[in-house]
Amino acid sequence: MTLLRIRTLPDPVLRQKAAAVAVVDAAIVQLLDDMLETMYPNQGAGLAAPQVGVSKRVVVIDVNDPPDPAHALQMVNPEILSASTELYTHNEGCLSVPDQFAPVSRPKRIRVKYLDRHGKEQILDAEDLLSICIQHEIDHLDGKVFVDHLSPLKRRMLMKRYDKRTHPRDETL
Ligand code: NI
Repeated sequence: MTLLRIRTLPDPVLRQKAAAVAVVDAAIVQLLDDMLETMYPNQGAGLAAPQVGVSKRVVVIDVNDPPDPAHALQMVNPEILSASTELYTHNEGCLSVPDQFAPVSRPKRIRVKYLDRHGKEQILDAEDLLSICIQHEIDHLDGKVFVDHLSPLKRRMLMKRYDKRTHPRDETL
């Protein structure tokens, strides 16, 4: 088990399109375990491999309250098959954009296909928070971050707050 370093904006790995996994081998299983190990102490509900500097289509999610490692989702090559027109709004945050939150609306229900840690294809119907979290993590695999869903004005305001936090010395320059 290894604790991985979380990449934050503007790390370019967060803007790359991640590569599909050809085979769910021992290295991918190890990556899944390390990502879970990294997600829990950081109090994340989800983590995508690009967030730990690995540009592969791998995601872990636990939206259980309280968190329940025995029932964490581990998804390889997740793909949305269908999405509801009905939306659900959640105040989203992201370990790669620390301390910033903003409401984002996304499809309330999705059907998603993925490979589990045994390389077996699974189909899952997800709604509400789980649906939102899966979409947020799949965005990471496509080089997208939740702030991309905000209006240009709201995104500018959020990124200004974020930059101040990341480079507090700039304020005095
Ligand atoms: Ni995120």
